[in-house]
Amino acid sequence: MKLAKKSVLGVALSGLISLGAQAGNVEVLHYWTSGGEAKSAAVLKQLLEKEGHQWKDFAVAGGGGESAMTVLKSRAVSGNPPSAAQIKGLDIKEWADLGFLTQLDAVAESAGWDQLLPGVVSDVMKYDGHYVAVPVNVHRVNWLWANPEIFQSVGVDIPKTWGEFIEVADKIKDAGYVPLAHGGQAWQDATVFEAVVLGEGGAEFYHKAFVEHDQATLTSPKMVEILATFKKLRNYIDSDSAGRDWNIATSMVINGKAAMQIMGDWAKGEFTAAGKKPGTDYLCVAAPGTSNAFTFNIDSFAMFDVKGSGSKEAQADLARLIMEPQFQETFNLNKGSIPARLGMPRANFDSCAHTSMDDFVATSKSGGLVPSMAHGMSTTSAVQGAIYDVVTNYFNSDSLSAEQAADKLARAIKAAI
Ligand code: BGC
Repeated sequence: MKLAKKSVLGVALSGLISLGAQAGNVEVLHYWTSGGEAKSAAVLKQLLEKEGHQWKDFAVAGGGGESAMTVLKSRAVSGNPPSAAQIKGLDIKEWADLGFLTQLDAVAESAGWDQLLPGVVSDVMKYDGHYVAVPVNVHRVNWLWANPEIFQSVGVDIPKTWGEFIEVADKIKDAGYVPLAHGGQAWQDATVFEAVVLGEGGAEFYHKAFVEHDQATLTSPKMVEILATFKKLRNYIDSDSAGRDWNIATSMVINGKAAMQIMGDWAKGEFTAAGKKPGTDYLCVAAPGTSNAFTFNIDSFAMFDVKGSGSKEAQADLARLIMEPQFQETFNLNKGSIPARLGMPRANFDSCAHTSMDDFVATSKSGGLVPSMAHGMSTTSAVQGAIYDVVTNYFNSDSLSAEQAADKLARAIKAAI
């Protein structure tokens, strides 16, 4: 039985006498600092505080979480990790392998997580058959966000292939708009690159390149073609893009400066936070050529070993709360993603989320569901880093031809495996 933790007295008592529940501290490392993201993180903080625990915010800005992971490593190495950290994908197994993570089996069993999660999600959360992380959502990465007013005023249709994208982008550019809102950061370059790989290569090709790291695929004529298309997109980005954060790029679409952005549906969190409605104020469609595919990116929290029963209890409560329907709904309405938990009511979600929910199910049956390379789902952080380097160098300078880039990509991946 838990104390009525809402009351101040209850909280104080739970610290003084041991009646089962104990208030504790949870230091939570995350990288949700944009408008939509901060609103989403606040949902979890509020729910945890309602239970009488204290949330110590450890936010490290930087889209895609590279900076947060660097800070996390230095804290862990010095023997002082936070109690919970936003770790995802294959990184979860790496941290578990090093012996840093706490098992969450007790919470998972009592709430029946195995029955509540699709296998593709629970697999990522487990190490050696035990839950060591808890999922907050499923983000789809292969989206194109568009400003309908710009399309109307230029008189062009939303592109369905990368070929069409280039035709449309030329016209939008001639009309004086920025065709593609983009921030020049390695992870954003990689996010666009994987969308082109998926759109021009298809899900099987994508899988061979980014999951199996098949050398023949990486150096194939198809990959050279894809790299050439990818490079062309550089023509449609404005000259101030270097270092720009992704949410600033999204605001260019919101404000009518840019026509499109290729970005995961955390971008929708920005449209939502700005009070914009899908279908009228903005459009969400699958990135060109990818309507039959879904690049998934699952956010999750892993828990580190902490001392003290209060802290342990707070940690377990955090894990439990994350999987509860209230959190899964409210958080994801703000974040732009869809719940990780199965069987959630759809009514409060918008049309983009409905498309995502339907496509997640359909692609899991058709073979079109693939893990995001750019967001740590398809490969180790070492391989991902190697891909980032090649992709971003190729995209941002003219030192490599598409053939040379394909060759370099294949070699870099081979060396990092
Ligand atoms: C994370 C999202 C986050 C985005 C931008 C992605 O890798 O999964 O939760 O909003 O990066 O930081």
